[in-house]
Amino acid sequence: MSTFDTHLDSWAAYQATAWGRIRYRVVAETLERTCRSLGDGPLRVLDVGGGDGGDAGPLVAVGHDVTVVDPSAALLAQAVAAGDGSPGNLRVVEATLDELPTMGLGRFDLVVCHNLLQYLPDTAAAVATLADTVRPSGALSLMSPNPPAEVLAAAIRRSDLGAATDLLTAPVIRSETFEHDMRRIDADEAAAALATASFTDVTRYGIRCVTDFLASDERKAEPAFYAQLESLELALCDREPYVRTARFWQLVARRP
Ligand SMILES: C[S@@+](CC[C@H](N)C(=O)[O-])C[C@H]1O[C@@H](n2cnc3c(N)ncnc32)[C@H](O)[C@@H]1O
Repeated sequence: MSTFDTHLDSWAAYQATAWGRIRYRVVAETLERTCRSLGDGPLRVLDVGGGDGGDAGPLVAVGHDVTVVDPSAALLAQAVAAGDGSPGNLRVVEATLDELPTMGLGRFDLVVCHNLLQYLPDTAAAVATLADTVRPSGALSLMSPNPPAEVLAAAIRRSDLGAATDLLTAPVIRSETFEHDMRRIDADEAAAALATASFTDVTRYGIRCVTDFLASDERKAEPAFYAQLESLELALCDREPYVRTARFWQLVARRP
């Protein structure tokens, strides 16, 4: 059983927080924009490491056909339950990224790989595998924690200047949710992997540009404050310079 299967409760608790909800809300917006740019009608979407369908759900809800690939049977069962009754089709496949080339799933209009790369050993190898699942002129969306945000959050939010200094050069950081080390991947490393795989037209989004620098978690849970924060995050997610220091980078790129 993997570390993801043994932390289902902490994962669900994270998703229910104000900052968890904002992460999924903003990504639903950026993926909706990406889908619109790919054409009319239901799209074929693949979500690799899609877990319990947090990103797949809004896509299925508007009628897209989404395949979620993930090695966790427990998370996939939650994805199926959440997608029940949606207009689009949700299919789940219990497998890892490495198994994709042997699975014959075909090519997809949009491939999503969010918050998985940091748990894998090699960004370029993972992106090369993902690239083969994207149809010509299709899109690939990658997302991972943004290392500069970890430095800023330690200094600003926690006033822990020692941790902030250490985080300037630390190659890994511990995931609190999964109690597991994560490689610290910056957006430039992911962009280089996309370029090597011949992807172009890279759009960078910032997911949670300000939320993680606000000290009071209690205020974030207040409905009126939450609503304002969510709408500010939606306004900032595609704006320079805020995307540079957001909690997560998201890169959406096109296959030629
Ligand atoms: C942090 S969760 C992210 C889930 C989802 N993408 C999201 O952002 O809500 C990481 C997910 O990757 C899955 N995973 C772990 N190793 C994997 C691998 N080698 N290939 C595919 N998925 C993997 C886990 O089971 C888990 O669902």
